Amino acid sequence: MKVIITKDYEELSEKAFEIMAGVLKKKPDAVLGLATGSTPVGLYKKMIEDCKNGGISYKAVKTANLDEYVGLTPDNDQSYRYFMRHNLFDHIDIDLENTNIENGVASDLQKECERYNALLRTLPRDVQVLGIGANGHIAFNEPGTPFDSETHVVDLTENTIKMNARFFENEKDVPRRALTMGPKNIMEAKKILILAVGANKADAVKGMLNGPVDPALPASILQRHPDCTLIADEAAAAYVK
Ligand code: F6R
Repeated sequence: MKVIITKDYEELSEKAFEIMAGVLKKKPDAVLGLATGSTPVGLYKKMIEDCKNGGISYKAVKTANLDEYVGLTPDNDQSYRYFMRHNLFDHIDIDLENTNIENGVASDLQKECERYNALLRTLPRDVQVLGIGANGHIAFNEPGTPFDSETHVVDLTENTIKMNARFFENEKDVPRRALTMGPKNIMEAKKILILAVGANKADAVKGMLNGPVDPALPASILQRHPDCTLIADEAAAAYVK
């Protein structure tokens, strides 16, 4: 895995944008695998700024997001569909029809997972953006998720519910389940860009880079990807030699 350590979040977002822009300049109709959460917001701001200034166009771009909470409608401001519109899609020239995310309010969640897996087979990702959980999760693949899993329904761990409570008024409002791409879908991307910010990610980053490849730390599977770059700020990279 290639490792880039940056002095701060601004530099991390700039480096991430350079890699994203490199993919899009080579392939204007690229398929982007996208993540939510705090970490990629700086990257998305750079993409917006650049697009507004006449840079990269997203007219031919398609996207597939990693995950969505179960039970939140797209207009719920805590849903990941809403997050993506608010933090990226509504501010660039992308066609919303070309953006994809699991439907967390599907009446049959199992069927929805099958639909999304079938869709992903038609949308090979040129680059996949990831954040990392303090427990080493990628997307909502919590510790113990088999590496060969595809999109599935997950029960979120207490740790993840607590971490994500900061986005909700009350911890009890955090959905307990989500739909998520599995490690297998993630590993199919041609290029992976994993971003890590803050001291609370330092242990997970260390385990991902140096620990055994083990489902106990889902991000460790990325050691086996042929083109994966970690960009971490100094705090998240505290234990990286
Ligand atoms: C988000 C996602 C999660 C986050 C991770 C880190 O789509 O799949 O795995 O990337 O929980 O979240 P933040 O960036 O908020 O620290």
